[in-house]
Amino acid sequence: MIKQQVVNPLSLVFLATFSLFFSPVQAADKTGQAVVEAVCANCHVSGKDGAPRIGDVPAWTEHAKKGLVKLAENAIAGINKMPAHGGQPSLSDLEMSRAVAYMVSAGKAADPKKPYASPTSITGEQLVHERCMTCHEEGKEGAPRIDDFAAWKPRLQKGVEGLVQSSITGHNAMPSRAGMANLSDSDMRNAVTYLVVQSATYKPQK
Ligand code: HEC
Ligand code: HEC
Repeated sequence: MIKQQVVNPLSLVFLATFSLFFSPVQAADKTGQAVVEAVCANCHVSGKDGAPRIGDVPAWTEHAKKGLVKLAENAIAGINKMPAHGGQPSLSDLEMSRAVAYMVSAGKAADPKKPYASPTSITGEQLVHERCMTCHEEGKEGAPRIDDFAAWKPRLQKGVEGLVQSSITGHNAMPSRAGMANLSDSDMRNAVTYLVVQSATYKPQK
C-alpha cells in the first residue's frame, strides 16, 4: 500500500469552512466577507444605482455618520434603491450586520495584509496590534481574546456600536479608551471593528 503523504482532505475542508464562516461551530453564520462577495458586491463594487462603492472611504464615511447600527438597520429594512437584505431574505440580521461592518471598513478589516485606508492617522489594525493585544491576545484580566469568537459572541448582542461605546467609557477591568485618552471615537471604532472581525478569522502572525 502506498503511504499517503498528502494533507488530510478533511483538514482542507475544515480550512475552507473556517475561511467562509465566522466560526466552525457556528457554520450557519456567514462572515461579512462571504456575504459581501456573494451578494452585496453585485451593486457595491460598480456603484450601481448610486450604491456606495467598497473601498470608497469618503462615500462610506458619509453613510457611516448615521452609525453602524443605523446602517445595519437600513441594509436589513432596505432604503431607496437598496433592497431589504440586499435582496436575499435568507441572510440573517447578524450576517447583514457583519457585511455592513466589512463594507464600512473598506473590506480591509478582515485582511491583515492591507492597511485600512482610514482618514485618521492610525488604523484599527495598527492600534490593535500596538495597544490592545497586551490584554486581548492572552485574555489578561478576562479580556475576550482576539482569536476567541465564542467570547465575543455574547458581547456582540449589544451590537458593534455598543461595544465601541463600552470601550470608550471603560468596562470593568477594561480601561476607558484602553487607557489612552488621546484616541478618538473613530480610532476606537476602527479598533473594535478590527478586533471583532478578526476574532472569527484570526491566524497568529508568523
Ligand atoms: C441591487 C443592488 C444592491 C445590492 C445587491 C446591495 N445593495 Fe446596499 N445599496 C444599494 C444602493 C443603491 C444604495 C444607496 C441607497 C441610498 O442611500 O440611496 C445602497 C446602500 C447601502 C448602505 C447604506 C445605507 C444607508 O443608510 O446609508 C448599506 C449599509 C448597504 N447598502 C449594505 C448592503 C449590504 C450589506 C448588502 C449585501 C447583503 C447590500 N447592501 C446589497 C444597492 C444594493
Ligand atoms: C489593560 C488591559 C486591556 C487593554 C490594553 C485593552 N483591553 Fe479591552 N478589555 C479588557 C478586559 C479585562 C475586558 C473585559 C472587561 C469585562 O467585560 O469584564 C475588555 C473588554 C473589551 C471589550 C468588550 C466590552 C464589552 O462591552 O463587552 C472591547 C470592545 C474591548 N475590550 C476593546 C478594546 C480595544 C479596542 C483596545 C485597544 C484600543 C483594548 N480593548 C485594550 C482589557 C484591556
